[in-house]
Amino acid sequence: MDCPSRNNRVLVIGATGNVGREVVRELNSTGVAVRAMTRNPDTANLPPQTEVMRGDLCLPETLDHCLDGVDTVFLVWAAPPAAVASAVERFERHARRIVFLSAPLKTPHPLFQQPNPQRVMFEQIEKRIEDSGLEWTYLRPGMFALNALGWWAPQIRRGDTVRWPFAALPTAPIHERDIAAVAARVLCEEGHAGADYVLTGPQSLTHAEQVSTIGRAIGRALHFEEISPDEWRRECLPVWPEPAVNMLLNAWSAAMGHPAIVTSAVSELTGFPARTFFDWAADHAAQFHRIPSGE
Ligand SMILES: NC(=O)c1ccc[n+]([C@@H]2O[C@H](COP(=O)([O-])OP(=O)(O)OC[C@H]3O[C@@H](n4cnc5c(N)ncnc54)[C@H](OP(=O)(O)O)[C@@H]3O)[C@@H](O)[C@H]2O)c1
Repeated sequence: MDCPSRNNRVLVIGATGNVGREVVRELNSTGVAVRAMTRNPDTANLPPQTEVMRGDLCLPETLDHCLDGVDTVFLVWAAPPAAVASAVERFERHARRIVFLSAPLKTPHPLFQQPNPQRVMFEQIEKRIEDSGLEWTYLRPGMFALNALGWWAPQIRRGDTVRWPFAALPTAPIHERDIAAVAARVLCEEGHAGADYVLTGPQSLTHAEQVSTIGRAIGRALHFEEISPDEWRRECLPVWPEPAVNMLLNAWSAAMGHPAIVTSAVSELTGFPARTFFDWAADHAAQFHRIPSGE
């Protein structure tokens, strides 16, 4: 992709994460000047052409040097809500525009409309951004395909059965590289001020179909064993934080029986078809490989 705003330095916050790392990679390939912020530059492991700086959203004074000379901020927010106001105030002081990785807060679909603390925080962030003088664009991805790694990979590495609730729940998981490709496009072009883009994968697939798709991609026949939400909650709670368990159960149960939202935003913005869930599973096949017994 050619980048007309090549002279505008972009600060990627969350650059070592799933999406941010791909955004850095995409931007590097366009020739735009990329600065990556991380709390631990020594372990960031980013491409050599990337300028890496230490910064922490919870320590606003560390943001000033990261933002010095920056035109546009790409923001992945993974810090507590208490840090929002001072961070946005710093962005406003230094930068002209911001592209925020949000969620489909405005999409009238039950999967995206259940109350939860994360939603409240994202609404706060958007309000702060809109009250600032920053030019803004929001990316609103639905379910990340990557969730499958946290949800199902541990079971698939151990055996051929996935025990999970809501077998028939359809979602349209999106590949993190498609989120990054859209981000790079928006970061490189003018004309996206005040826009928000709901990003999904290209197909609606139920939980059970997603598991069988992973099976096809890794060459194994996987069995989906549906368990009750209560059973799932009991099994997850020792390992996962309760708010995350509640957030998922509320969203899934509310969305049962509703077709997944599938948008064409990825292909419209990038000019390429969105990657399928099979593509995603093939890209991540190594992370599902069986652990040899005895390990
Ligand atoms: N999973 C989904 O289905 C879904 C759907 C829609 C939206 N989202 C949103 O997507 C985001 C997660 O994206 P991701 O998976 O790319 O994230 P991730 O892999 O969890 O990475 C989090 C990033 O945030 C950085 N970070 C954490 N605390 C920080 C702090 N105090 N100051 C500065 N940087 C900090 C980390 O950098 P260092 O550790 O290097 O500092 C890391 O690069 C979340 O906001 C989530 O709500 C997720």
